Amino acid sequence: MNISALQKERAKYQPKLPKSLVGAVKLVEGAKTQSVADQKDIEKLFPNTYGMPLITFEEGEVKKDRPAINVGVILSGGQAPGGHNVISGIFDGIKKINQESRLYGFLGGPGGLVDHKYVELTAEIIDEYRNTGGFDIIGSGRTKLEEEWQFDKGLEIANDLNLNALVIIGGDDSNTNACVLAEYYAAKDAGVQVIGCPKTIDGDLKNEMIETSFGFDTATKVYSELIGNIQRDANSAKKYWHFIKLMGRSASHIGLECALKTQPNITLISEEVADKKQTLEEIVEYMAGIVAKRAENGDNFGVALIPEGLIEFIPEMKVLISELNDMLAEGSETEKEFKMLKKSHRNEWVAGHLTDDSAKVFKSLPSGIATQLTLDRDPHGNVQVSLIETEKLLGEMVKAKLEKMKKAGEYVGKFGTQYHFFGYEGRCAAPSNFDADYCYSLGYTASVLISDGKTGYMSSVRNLTAPAEDWIAGGVPVTTMMNMEKRHGHMKPVIQKALVELEGAPYKYFVSKRGEWAFTTQFVYPGPIQYFGPSEVCDLTTETLKFEKA
Ligand code: FBP
Repeated sequence: MNISALQKERAKYQPKLPKSLVGAVKLVEGAKTQSVADQKDIEKLFPNTYGMPLITFEEGEVKKDRPAINVGVILSGGQAPGGHNVISGIFDGIKKINQESRLYGFLGGPGGLVDHKYVELTAEIIDEYRNTGGFDIIGSGRTKLEEEWQFDKGLEIANDLNLNALVIIGGDDSNTNACVLAEYYAAKDAGVQVIGCPKTIDGDLKNEMIETSFGFDTATKVYSELIGNIQRDANSAKKYWHFIKLMGRSASHIGLECALKTQPNITLISEEVADKKQTLEEIVEYMAGIVAKRAENGDNFGVALIPEGLIEFIPEMKVLISELNDMLAEGSETEKEFKMLKKSHRNEWVAGHLTDDSAKVFKSLPSGIATQLTLDRDPHGNVQVSLIETEKLLGEMVKAKLEKMKKAGEYVGKFGTQYHFFGYEGRCAAPSNFDADYCYSLGYTASVLISDGKTGYMSSVRNLTAPAEDWIAGGVPVTTMMNMEKRHGHMKPVIQKALVELEGAPYKYFVSKRGEWAFTTQFVYPGPIQYFGPSEVCDLTTETLKFEKA
């Protein structure tokens, strides 16, 4: 197989581990835990895995003759840089415990467990994927593991392969399901442990014990490089406004992080829009105001960052989307009727089935955008925001607003637009040193939790702004992150999604600066991720982490 010069060199990189994991490890149990909210409900639903203590690792004494452990690993959901390093961390961890330990990878995501599709991950396979981006070692998928028959099918194959444990590498939904699975196997005394690992470029699976999800660092570095390059182009040609949509299904962590790194003229933060109950019209006014003010200085160019999930945070759009979700829920009568219609008749039919207010909003949208809102939902029932061209919607609406302002003598300038969407470009990048180290440590941590018989825990590696050797590794019970939320009309236990905190230091700093960044040009050009060279350049953590931990 041909591999690039960088990949060849990068394969030699030995990820750094916290010092507690380098030699023999001792587990220290902390206080009993409880869930973030709805304690009584969660305890009732998770009688076997609720209230378990926090675990931290310390340097310990070598234990001899530890038995071999067999582990099955699953990659779940969207790709995030570092997944291969989590898997190599698990592999090296279980092999260190006992050379006879084995690692199996379930193919194509959680569906592989249910359908019994797997491969044994040997040293030869693992070595090919160390420090590489992507999830292609075993593939990923979005099948939801939530029904008992799926758990039972999983148990069948776990017993066939003599597995001690499953490691599920996923986001909030997948780890919620991992927790339910851990409880199910514990209740049955099935002898199969379940450990989760926090993955998602979106950065919305975090809390006190999980400082960041893996992949966020690399993905935001890739997007920031691209944004910086575009800013330099904009500042050179001085003729375009670049509207850039950034991935991140719900939360605006990616947009905020990229803004802190690159200082663009406009950055919308969905959580702020929801908090201020801003309408689409108000957002457009805000953007057009900045374009017009820059034009007064002759600056008919700029860069605007738009979070992918914005549309669901605009109150009137949120109501519209929720009505559409009900109307188009898989298997519903209305969905069947909708699917029978000719494509050209669908939008009119949809408008006729909405409440008056939502119908008005729906009809005011450019027809392409209206159609995008009615496209298929993902398996979790979410509208697929990455398919909605919010950047074009806003660009067109700002243009229309500027034309009106021109007529009223409130704007003199030219408004040429370029549109971009950065998402998939960053999800499979070769992991930064931070993600390479963090992911390897998360995987290694999972192996230690397994060898100590733990289940229902998520690998936790903290103190991440310190050098890797001082990171604190351990485990946190997944039930601590749970609360009850309404899903598909029923109250369900789920991991609370971490949105951008409007009282948080990263956002507050951004707010203190965004006025300056809007009207004067203070672009920062971060350049590409550096894998080799001085630590100040190669081992940078995110601005978000720096502000949060300061
Ligand atoms: P996860 O939450 O599964 O990590 O996925 C995140 C994400 O990359 C979102 O940012 C994006 O909206 C979505 O996946 C895109 O999904 P798909 O890969 O199915 O197109």
